[in-house]
Amino acid sequence: MNSLLIAIWLMLPAYLPNNFAVLFGGGRPLDLGRRFRDGRRILGDGKTFRGTIAGILGGVGMGLVLNEIASARPDLGLPGFGAGYELFLVLIGLSLGAMIGDVVASFFKRRMGMERGAALFLVDQLDFVLGSWALLLVLAPGWFSQNFSSEIIFIVLIVTPILHRITNIIGYRIRAKKEPW
Ligand code: CTP
Ligand code: MG
Repeated sequence: MNSLLIAIWLMLPAYLPNNFAVLFGGGRPLDLGRRFRDGRRILGDGKTFRGTIAGILGGVGMGLVLNEIASARPDLGLPGFGAGYELFLVLIGLSLGAMIGDVVASFFKRRMGMERGAALFLVDQLDFVLGSWALLLVLAPGWFSQNFSSEIIFIVLIVTPILHRITNIIGYRIRAKKEPW
């Protein structure tokens, strides 16, 4: 199977949480409206409980479906996401890690004085990738090193900003998202 497809396949449970958060987010913000000692919001209204939970569920659900496809069709040569307890750790790593990466980026955006929704080039496009890899290294390092060769890592870093840009333009056009980035 083609490396580009494998890279996207492996990252889908980390990509989907963003889209689910946009579609289902809103309501009570994660920071409960509180301010940091610099007087600005800790995270801002763009990070909500509903969006975060929907994102994690969406990513885990996507991973379970992909894992079934991989094991039902070994002829396709697509990697699985582990078995038993490891499957759980891998999918939590990818989806919760993606949401944590996005939240951490928002924290730093607020500290830089940027309002909710302000664009921060490359951070907006890769925060969730780095978050998912960081959590995977903690929760399922064996699976991570087996599947993420330096070639796959390189492809993900190049392709994700492009895919992110395309989906956000679509999200903006269908009025699911306030900004096209
Ligand atoms: N969202 C959410 N909860 C999250 C992440 C995203 O509810 N944990 C929803 C919010 O409605 C948010 C939208 O998805 O406005 C877009 O997400 P994102 O671009 O990450 O947030 P921004 O609104 O741009 O805020 P920030 O400047 O903090 O990135
Ligand atoms: Mg944004």
